Amino acid sequence: MKEKIKKLVNKNPFLKDIIDEMREKKKRFSSKFDKNIIGKENSLKIDPTAFFNNCVIDIDGNNNTVIVDKNCQLNNLKIHIQGNDNLLVLNESVKFNGLFWLTGNKGKIEIGAGTTTEYNVMLQISEDNLSIQVGEDCMFSSNILVWTQDWHHIYDLEGNLINESKSVIIKDHVWIGYDSKILKGVTIGSNNIIGAGAVVTKSYEEENVVIAGNPGRIVKRDITWKR
Ligand SMILES: CC(C)(COP(=O)(O)OP(=O)(O)OC[C@H]1O[C@@H](n2cnc3c(N)ncnc32)[C@H](O)[C@@H]1OP(=O)(O)O)[C@@H](O)C(=O)NCCC(=O)NCCS
Repeated sequence: MKEKIKKLVNKNPFLKDIIDEMREKKKRFSSKFDKNIIGKENSLKIDPTAFFNNCVIDIDGNNNTVIVDKNCQLNNLKIHIQGNDNLLVLNESVKFNGLFWLTGNKGKIEIGAGTTTEYNVMLQISEDNLSIQVGEDCMFSSNILVWTQDWHHIYDLEGNLINESKSVIIKDHVWIGYDSKILKGVTIGSNNIIGAGAVVTKSYEEENVVIAGNPGRIVKRDITWKR
């Protein structure tokens, strides 16, 4: 019987394509994620209920840790760590699609429980001792950048650095609109909304406000939002 089915499938290119695709999907889900780890004392603490689809974890360095808690859903995610003593924590039920980038030493990215993204959300740290802290129940749209640095240094004419890299904090229940950018040193208060296309260059610790535009400014107060 098995042989008969095999022959039938091999004769029918349409059926063969479907079965090959199903096999490929099964392989992807069962292998969970691709990983390339170089170095010593690197650890992945992945809860068995976490779901991965088309994800890659690249680590090159020592003593880096990735923690993925219960019921996280990770799609098309790349985790790229190059350096030592970095920590990435995805708390319970985080849904993420995009990139976590830690190229430096002693960096930390933590995403609070229940925070979700659509597509292509990139959180990037490229220098030492910096962090990106995202609170609980935040909602990121797509094509979003969060950077702790400008990637190149600027100096005044006496040679002093004028664009120092700084950590970013996004507190609980913040909605971040499509195509927005959150730059170095920014703190966003709880319950805020970042409008589509915003470039946020300063901190807005005030809560329950809408921040929109380039550069981002408060355009509304006394609001809240629901998913
Ligand atoms: C931020 C947002 C939700 C606010 O909606 P709202 O409360 O109805 O805001 P309003 O349209 O009343 O705008 C208030 C003011 O902010 C300005 N503004 C609103 N959104 C803006 C934006 N994205 N960029 C620049 N200015 C914006 C308006 O022009 C208006 O200015 P004014 O007071 O000078 O007239 C909405 O404008 C937005 O950006 N929506 C897209 C959200 C998104 O990305 N969704 C993707 C799926 S998660």
